[in-house]
Amino acid sequence: MNFNLTEEQLAVRDAAREFARTELLPGVIERDNEQRFPKDQIREMGKLGFMGMMVDPQYGGGGMDTISYVLAMEEISKVDASASVCMSVNNSLVCWGLEKYGTEEQKQKYLVPLAKGEVIGAFCLSEPEAGSDATSQQTEALDMGDHYLLNGTKNWITNGGNASIYLVIAQTNREKGHHGINCLIVEKGMEGFVVGKKEDKLGIRGSDTHMLSFTDVKVPKENRIGEDGFGFNFAMNTLNGGRIGIAAQALGIASGAFELARNYSLQRKAFGKEIARHQAIAFKLADMATEIEAARLLVLKSAFEKDQGRDFSKFSAMGKLMASEVAMKTSVEAVQVHGGYGYVKEYHVERLMRDAKITQIYEGTSEIQRIVISRKVLEEMDG
Ligand code: CAA
Ligand code: FAD
Repeated sequence: MNFNLTEEQLAVRDAAREFARTELLPGVIERDNEQRFPKDQIREMGKLGFMGMMVDPQYGGGGMDTISYVLAMEEISKVDASASVCMSVNNSLVCWGLEKYGTEEQKQKYLVPLAKGEVIGAFCLSEPEAGSDATSQQTEALDMGDHYLLNGTKNWITNGGNASIYLVIAQTNREKGHHGINCLIVEKGMEGFVVGKKEDKLGIRGSDTHMLSFTDVKVPKENRIGEDGFGFNFAMNTLNGGRIGIAAQALGIASGAFELARNYSLQRKAFGKEIARHQAIAFKLADMATEIEAARLLVLKSAFEKDQGRDFSKFSAMGKLMASEVAMKTSVEAVQVHGGYGYVKEYHVERLMRDAKITQIYEGTSEIQRIVISRKVLEEMDG
């Protein structure tokens, strides 16, 4: 077993770390306060190759492995989880899905600009009445021969306002249940497609989360991804990889909070010594570091399994479950280590604590990850 990272992987990690420190850190508090999308920073991330990291260079991507992607996501997320969720959706939901299952025409038209970071994508599965219960799709894509007629509402869509290309999951044939669901590529500006209200959120406030509505939107047949009825399997297969991105985001939030807490505890004095020298604080740091390392190993393992071309769905669910729980716990403890200073915005940890919560909810809640993991481990016992 080899735990060493390659020189390329280390270079990617260092480049992401440097970008986060110099380009994302300045202004991150203001963007959070004002709920302002990091538009310029995301454009810059595109130019540096962070928006299509794993895409084959022939389609404008970086051709990197999933381990490099995890390392970059962790570094970006330490500083700005709003920027990193945009990066995660674009890389592992939109680009990956198009590259794996799209036609050559779809790749040339949509994947190339997405991978180069010239435009941003969104992944639209959730609805007001279909979140965890994702097969209960109410959005309809009626087959009209040469096109689909799309009607319905999507909820909570990340990059909703800033995206140009949307992968929309919709029901075509109700009799076939989830095998009657399709995924359609919808462009911003198609008649009948309206970007609705922006959500006012607890965390990742720089990320733009919107409701979307579709009224008699004509989507050409050639914009369907995969065979008729493949849409739900498309969504599930794509989410397996997406969960690695969110797990890496959670890992970054946790390690960012830990680093802030450790640094602060070495400066702040109480009762005549640095608070890090009080065992109660030192033990908190020990627990944080241990749990982060365990989560990191699991997240890297899921990336490794994906890169080996094996079924990684169990590992990606495990990594997301564990890293998101560690992010929540670590960020709460980081606020505690900061005392009253942790409760104000200037010290960053309160934002990390608010940002951590979403990692237990989106791309499948912690309860849904347990469903995915338990089904897999029970299958393994049966087999
Ligand atoms: N990988 C591959 N296929 C999977 C899968 C997985 N992890 N989980 C389910 N499937 C497949 C099943 O094999 C089955 O396929 P077939 O019928 O063709 O064999 C099909 O999906 C239906 O599965 P189930 O019968 O198990 O369906 P279910 O209704 O009992 O449960 C679920 C499915 C696992 C709970 C699923 O609905 C789910 O994952 N829900 C969570 C939805 C989610 O993660 N949403 C995220 C939205 S995107 C987002 O959030 C982005 C963001 O914030 C940034
Ligand atoms: P529900 O499914 O109603 O769940 C409510 C509670 O019940 C949860 O605790 C859940 O775990 C629990 N629960 C539900 N079913 C079960 C069960 N069978 N067993 C045990 N417990 C259960 N979606 C997209 O498609 N694209 C996006 O880009 C996107 N971005 C998002 C960004 C943000 C900021 C947010 C908040 C959400 C985003 N989502 C997105 C939606 C997200 O994936 C859903 O919110 C999530 O899947 C949960 O669905 P729900 O909100 O409907 O909760």
